[in-house]
Parts: sequence; structure tokens; C-alpha cells
Amino acid sequence: MDLIIRHEAEAEHRIVEELTREAFWNLYFPGCDEHYLVKVLRHHPDYLPEFSFVAELDGDIVGMIMYTRSWLFDEEGSEKEIVSFGPFCVHPDHQRKGIGRALLEHSTAILRKKDIAAITILGDPHNYVPYGFKNGLDYNISDMTGNYPLGLMVLELTDNAFEGKAWKCNQSRVFELDPKQAEAFDKTFIAKEKKHRPSQDLFMIMVRAQLQKSE
Ligand SMILES: CC(C)(COP(=O)(O)OP(=O)(O)OC[C@H]1O[C@@H](n2cnc3c(N)ncnc32)[C@H](O)[C@@H]1OP(=O)(O)O)[C@@H](O)C(=O)NCCC(=O)NCCS
Repeated sequence: MDLIIRHEAEAEHRIVEELTREAFWNLYFPGCDEHYLVKVLRHHPDYLPEFSFVAELDGDIVGMIMYTRSWLFDEEGSEKEIVSFGPFCVHPDHQRKGIGRALLEHSTAILRKKDIAAITILGDPHNYVPYGFKNGLDYNISDMTGNYPLGLMVLELTDNAFEGKAWKCNQSRVFELDPKQAEAFDKTFIAKEKKHRPSQDLFMIMVRAQLQKSE
């Protein structure tokens, strides 16, 4: 397996969007909007291209990860800029071969060199626990409303990143996509059938689940 982790070229934008659509289609809801997020993200001030990569396997792009700025706020309201990622995906034909791990390890090595304290991500914990992520509650990091969603996952990158403090974390607004524009963008791709899948029901359960602090 000849795997190269590198930045995407401008001529590959559409290929990366197609890959993203393929990986997310019908996974979390019928259809998907992650390929539109890729398009919007590239021009957004919170996008961090220096940490974002594609995975090329035997000449084909089969995986990608895109990073954005995100923020932690301590109890005094002081801000610490960290990062988040998404979309992060591997083509369904190539999942569970270590390509996701290669993308994550490549990017986290660079983030550590740049002294970025942590990654936070809202998603399915099954995807992130294998890479060492913990729930926000394990680090005393809540969302902006003070809750601890099941899917709020954190990877500490530097020693004592959280300084023993309690934090609230906030994501970039780039993730608040306009569904109509996402739908219109999707129409520029080859038509694909939108279907119900059990993974969508599981996701709807997970997004409502919260962890509680034990007494
Ligand atoms: C999540 C994703 C990027 C992982 O990429 P991948 O190349 O399949 O993952 P890897 O092969 O590197 O797997 C790394 C480890 O995580 C485990 N793993 C990955 N996804 C998992 C899941 N959903 N549930 C349980 N374990 C999982 C693998 O078994 C592997 O463990 P191991 O190293 O101990 O064998 C890929 O499965 C994917 O594209 N999923 C669909 C899109 C998605 O949901 N992306 C995340 C939301 S942004």
C-alpha cells in the first residue's frame, strides 16, 4: 500500500468534494452536506489549510481531513485558541485500513510542533476513542451552555493543556450551513438516492445524549 499524506491541489477540489460525498452519503441523515462544507470551508477565515491534508493511495485520493479554529473559554472568560476538524473521512472502500489514523497522526504531529494545546470535535465517539480522544467531561470541558454532550470529544496535544481549569468550548460558525444552498450544491453532482439507514437513528440518539458529573 503506497500511502502519501499531503495537501490538496486546487485542481483536486472537486475530487475531494466527491470523496467526501461518497463517505458521508446517508450516514447521519438521508443524503449529506459535508461536501458543501468542504467547499465553504476553503474560503472561510477559520479554515486552517496548513493542518489539512488528503491521503493519496496508489495515485487516488481516498481520504481527507480539514481543520478549523475553535476556542476554549475559562471561568474568567479568557480565551484559548485551539483547533477542531471536520470533515474527516476515508472512502468506504478503504475504511479500516489505517488511513484515517495516518491522516490524524500526520496532522497532530504538526499541531504539536506548533504548540496547539488541543483538538475538540463534536461527533460519534466510536470514531475518535481509538485515536486517544476523551469526552469533554474527562477534562472539565463543556459546551457553551455548560453541558457535556456525549459527542464532545477532546484530544490533549500539549502537557497540562487545560491547566487544571474548567473550560467551555466553542466551534466556528462555518459549521452552520444553509440547507438550501447545500441542497443546490448537491444538485451539481451525479444524482444519488437518499435513503434511511439505522446509522441515522443511532446518530439522532447520540446527539441528544449528555454525560453528567458524578456527585
Ligand atoms: C472515521 C473514519 C475517518 C476513520 O477512518 P479509517 O481509515 O476507517 O480508520 P482507521 O482504519 O485508521 O481506524 C483507526 C482505528 O479506529 C477504529 N475505528 C475507526 N472507526 C471506528 C468506528 N466507527 N467504530 C469503532 N472503531 C472504529 C479502527 O478499528 C482502528 O482501530 P485499530 O487501529 O485499533 O485497529 C472513516 O471510517 C470514515 O470516513 N467514516 C465515515 C465518515 C465519518 O463519520 N467521519 C467522521 C465524522 S467527521
